[in-house]
Amino acid sequence: MITLDNIRKPVAAELDAYNEFVERQFSTEDGLLSEMLNHALSSRGKGIRPLLVMLTAALNSPSPGMASGRRSCLAAMLIEMIHVASLIHDDVIDEADTRRGKPSVNAVWQSHKAVILGDYILARNLSLGLQSGQFDLVTHICGAIATLCEGEIEQADYVDNRPMTRQAYFDIVYKKTALLLGISTSAGAMAVHATRDKITLMRRFGEALGVAFQIQDDILDYKTDAQTGKPSCNDLREGKVTLPLLTVLERVDEERRRELLERLHQCHTDEKAVEYLRQTVQNEGGLDDASRIMQSYIQRAVGMLGEYDPSPYQKALIDLCTYLVERNR
Ligand code: FPP
Ligand code: MG
Repeated sequence: MITLDNIRKPVAAELDAYNEFVERQFSTEDGLLSEMLNHALSSRGKGIRPLLVMLTAALNSPSPGMASGRRSCLAAMLIEMIHVASLIHDDVIDEADTRRGKPSVNAVWQSHKAVILGDYILARNLSLGLQSGQFDLVTHICGAIATLCEGEIEQADYVDNRPMTRQAYFDIVYKKTALLLGISTSAGAMAVHATRDKITLMRRFGEALGVAFQIQDDILDYKTDAQTGKPSCNDLREGKVTLPLLTVLERVDEERRRELLERLHQCHTDEKAVEYLRQTVQNEGGLDDASRIMQSYIQRAVGMLGEYDPSPYQKALIDLCTYLVERNR
């Protein structure tokens, strides 16, 4: 079976160096801020983005050892901290009480402090980037913050005011997820001074993987969770039309479409509407359709890795593609 631990193995030393680097850079004096920061940093999750930076740095590295250098650690930190800050803000927006099985920052310290913690992490991250003097990496990575915000605003606009379309769905997925994964993989290549062609290839690889990653997230929202035994269906409660529901809406006639959208409006307060839509999406092939589309992005991503000679890093990246498709949380 493919596990994240096995995927991490070829870059275990690089990831250790990275974790020490983050601890050094983000240490603060004792006090509330330090407590909040520790909470946020200790629930960082799977660490897919730093893993992608380190694997793509090693894959593109002309000499062994270069990938564990300061530039890769810096790139991984800049990217992961943008992600951490965005999730702290996202939990405030979604009024989520938990994040990765732990209480969210807003649940422990209230929303107003969570917003400021997210701002602090972003500001400190940028300032550490600028102090490093690695302006190519900082420019490449920090441009993503504005796009992430655009994606979030667009998503909210579609929930409140506009019928979702396939083009809008993919645009939002690109902005809120795929871009940062593409930045992770291209920043890895940049950190070891790969050629422009390789940096572009890595960017396209990460973006294809990122689209697949988000579609899988959207599918999992409808699936029974191994731990809770229930599907979360939070997207429905938040009024979000994601790919599984979208493919069903595209197939039905106008009258049925209006009925389904009417039910979606009720999901915020009505659990029966949530269950009705969940079953409809399941029975009418929405999950299968979304899964097929996700697989096509994964195949595209794996195909791009064929440009490299076989190596433990190439294999780990191929395994990561499979892992992300097969994961159940
Ligand atoms: C998770 O989505 C959210 C994101 C991937 C991006 C959130 C971006 C912002 C809140 C903009 C602010 C950005 C910064 C840098 C502060 P989700 O709610 O679909 O997933 P979830 O189930 O993990 O919550
Ligand atoms: Mg959320």
